[in-house]
Amino acid sequence: MSDKLIIFDTTLRDGEQSPGASMTREEKIRIAKVLERMKVDVIEAGFPVASPGDFEAVKAVADTIKESTVCGLARALNKDIDCAGEALKGATSSRIHTFIATSPIHMEKKLRMTPDQVVEQAVAAVKRARQHTDNVEFSPEDAGRSELDFLCRVIEAVIDAGATTINIPDTVGYNVPHQFGALLHNLLEKIPNSDKAVFSVHCHNDLGLAVANSLSAVLNGARQVECTINGLGERAGNAALEEIVMAVRTRQDIFSCNTTLDTSQIIPASRLVAGITGFPVQPNKAIVGANAFAHESGIHQDGVLKNRETYEIMRAEDVGWSKNHIILGKHSGRSALKSRLKELGIEFKSEESLNQAFARFKALADKKHEIFDDDLQALVSETTSSSNDEHIKLISMKVCSETGETPSACLTLSVDSEEKTATAEGGGPVDAAFKAIEKIIQSETELKLYSVNNITSGTDAQGDVTVRLEKSNRVVNGQGADTDIVIASVKSYLNALNKFILVDERAHPQL
Ligand code: KIV
Ligand code: ZN
Repeated sequence: MSDKLIIFDTTLRDGEQSPGASMTREEKIRIAKVLERMKVDVIEAGFPVASPGDFEAVKAVADTIKESTVCGLARALNKDIDCAGEALKGATSSRIHTFIATSPIHMEKKLRMTPDQVVEQAVAAVKRARQHTDNVEFSPEDAGRSELDFLCRVIEAVIDAGATTINIPDTVGYNVPHQFGALLHNLLEKIPNSDKAVFSVHCHNDLGLAVANSLSAVLNGARQVECTINGLGERAGNAALEEIVMAVRTRQDIFSCNTTLDTSQIIPASRLVAGITGFPVQPNKAIVGANAFAHESGIHQDGVLKNRETYEIMRAEDVGWSKNHIILGKHSGRSALKSRLKELGIEFKSEESLNQAFARFKALADKKHEIFDDDLQALVSETTSSSNDEHIKLISMKVCSETGETPSACLTLSVDSEEKTATAEGGGPVDAAFKAIEKIIQSETELKLYSVNNITSGTDAQGDVTVRLEKSNRVVNGQGADTDIVIASVKSYLNALNKFILVDERAHPQL
């Protein structure tokens, strides 16, 4: 059995299925580039048939990424598979991932198909996918609740048809570790041609067991794990990439395989994904939480100072926690900014984008004495998301907040290049500003979440605001950062409104 554990990242596909986590094409490319730097083996970039926007995003990732295999999801339908094949045409290395449900409840109630029909469609799908690429993955959806004998039958047939990876999803997060490990063991034992494919797992976290189930499967012969940065994903999410990778690496006494990832890219990737999706990482989250390597108690601090290994099983720097470099302040030049960004793995496509970032950097340096790497990441997010195709832009804003008076805000926006102004009162300056925006835009969206976090410490830190808006069952997150939290809030609200316009409606893969 191979000693290489393949890491298949599905942040851009299953992760994007988290309500509100939809990403623009540019955002997907940025995340894909960090995953490539991390040396992730396979990047699942999306579900091309879902919408024209999804197709374009998968195509853009396929055209950009050179070191990782780029994968597209497709139901076991010709139109899905051909669409994925088309989107992946430009990839240096491509994979089509096709799936069909195999559990009794899914076959009977959702697909309304007999088991025989499911086998036939699965085989046809794999053969169709092989016409586009020789790297084909097949998933029996809801495998965790499927009957073992039927699973063996489908899998044997699709391997014969040309599937090179067999992915076993615990779609509803129902399994427990010893059971899921046994499932992998049994499949590998019972399927006569199991040695012709790599067995993979894809676990959801509904019972908080996604990582444990995945690792149990690895101990029982799985050699690919599907996972996401920060554990993002449908409902309670998927297995967290950082936890899988670091568990296997830290416990080499237990695992007989390892990944080839550059783990120092984990923190940059985690921050980027949290920033783009607006899903903050809880402080006590393993590996990537702000407290993951912080020692509060005196006894622990004393121990760590004497010998790090008394209380630490991993080194913070191995996963990319580094001292937050202070980069040059307001006197820094354009080339200093460019070179620090390069060290952070950020390169702009055009001189114009770099100039925009530099202008933002100077404006920030006027307000904030020291600029940290995290400030730069936020600044770059803004530069790339405030593209020319934004429909709504903030031109100016004035807020009044005075004891004994009702807070008010007067805002001027550019809406498709036309300037519009409105004034509104509210419970506080942010409320007033949002009401003024709504007077102009009349988006009829509902505010579902408003949260403010500081990017670095100190009262001159930038506030990082996340806004979640919902309309007609669509949920979108917006992000904005500024040293003035009312401005950050307005930026975040406008970012969400622009996403409503830019990110089109998409079909859901499990439908
Ligand atoms: O959870 C699931 O079953 C999936 C499949 C499409 C692999 O995401
Ligand atoms: Zn899934």
